[in-house]
Amino acid sequence: MTFSAVIVAAGSGTRAGPGQAKQWRDLAGKPVLRWSVEALLAAGAADLAIVTDPSMQDMLGETLTGLDGWRFAPGGASRALSVQSGLAALAHRPADEPVLVHDAARPFLTKTVVAGVLKALGDADGVVPALPVADTLKRSGESGAATTSRDGLWRAQTPQAFRRDRLLAAYAAWSGESEPTDDAQVVEADGGKVAISAGDPLLTKLTYSEDFAMAERLAGAARITRIGQGFDAHRWGPGESVWLCGVEIAHDETLIGHSDADAGLHALTDAILGAIGDGDIGDHFPPTDPQWKGAASDKFLVHAVDLVRQRGGRLINVDVTLICERPKIKPHREAMRQRLAEILDLPLDRVSVKATTTEKMGFTGRGEGLAAQAVATVETAL
Ligand code: CTP
Ligand code: MG
Repeated sequence: MTFSAVIVAAGSGTRAGPGQAKQWRDLAGKPVLRWSVEALLAAGAADLAIVTDPSMQDMLGETLTGLDGWRFAPGGASRALSVQSGLAALAHRPADEPVLVHDAARPFLTKTVVAGVLKALGDADGVVPALPVADTLKRSGESGAATTSRDGLWRAQTPQAFRRDRLLAAYAAWSGESEPTDDAQVVEADGGKVAISAGDPLLTKLTYSEDFAMAERLAGAARITRIGQGFDAHRWGPGESVWLCGVEIAHDETLIGHSDADAGLHALTDAILGAIGDGDIGDHFPPTDPQWKGAASDKFLVHAVDLVRQRGGRLINVDVTLICERPKIKPHREAMRQRLAEILDLPLDRVSVKATTTEKMGFTGRGEGLAAQAVATVETAL
C-alpha cells in the first residue's frame, strides 16, 4: 500500500533536561531522529515530511546524509501545528492517501507496526498503535491513593495512520481550546472512528533523560547484523597493469573482463548485496550493457553501499582475500585498505585486505587467473 509520512521533530525536549533537544541526541551511534527516518523509509514510506525548527535545517541535512525520499517542513509552536506543517508539505500527494504521523522521539519503529496501522486503516478514520495498560492504576487524592480500573485502557503510541484529507478536516474543526497530545484525539473530537492496532513495547517515547539509558540497551535488540559473502575470478591476459581493490598496480599482465576486471571490488560488491539479499552484481550491472564496458568498479561498490543505506542499514566491516601467485599484494595492501575505506566511507580498522597463494595449485596457482573472496557485515533494522 502506498503511503506517506510526517515525522514531527520540532519540539524542545524540555522534560529530557538541558542540552541538545532529544531528537538530535546520539543513540547507539546515530541521532534519535535518524533512527525514526530510517525506520519509516525501510517500511516503505513513499514520501516523508520531516518537521524541525527552521534553524535546524542544515543540521537535518547532515543528520540524514545518504538518505533520500524526505523533505523538510518548518516546525510550529505546538506539536499540533508541527503536524499540520508536515501535512502541508505533502500537499502534492493524493488527498486520500494514507499518511502516518510519527514522533521522532520513538526511534524503535518496526515494519510490523507500520504494516499493522496501515492494515487497520480500512474504513476507520484513524488508527493508533497501542498497548493495553498492564500495571495496576492508582489515583492519588486527598484521602490517599485509590485503585482505579484499567479495563479498556490503552497506551497510545505513534505512528498513527489517517487518510490525509480526513486528518486535515479534523484539524480544521479542532476548537483550539486545549493542546492535543496526539492526532487521533483530533479525529475523535471530529466524530471520527479510531481503531487500535498492535503497539510495541520497543516503541516507547524518549521523554525523560533516564529514558536514554534504557534506549541504549534496547538499541541492540532493535537491529540485526547480517553477513554476506562474495567470490569472483578473472583470467590473466596481455597488459601492463591490473586494478585490484580500487588500486592500479603495474604488472606484466592484466585481468580480462567487461569492466576493469577488479575481482576484489566485484567480490566485495557481491558480499554487500548478499548481506541485504539483493541479488548479485550482474543483476544491477548486466555485463551485456555497453555502458559498463571498461567501467571503474568502484561505481558498483558505491551503488551496493547506497542500497544498504536506503534500507536504513549501515556497513560494519569488510574483509577481502585476493588469491594469486603474482603480483605480490603485500606492498599494496595498505593502499588498497585506504582506497576501500574511502569508497565505503568506513574507518580504516573496519577494512581488511588479505592475500594468499594456492601453492601453485589450481587455476590461480598455474597463473591462469586471479580469484577474490569477500565478506561484509551490515547492520539493518529488524
Ligand atoms: N514536537 C514538534 N513540535 C512541537 C512540539 C513537539 O514537532 N512544537 C514533536 C517532538 O519533537 C516529538 C513529538 O512531537 O518528536 C512528541 O512530543 P514530546 O515528546 O512532547 O517532545 P517535546 O515537546 O520536544 O518534549 P517536551 O514536551 O518534554 O518539551
Ligand atoms: Mg511536548
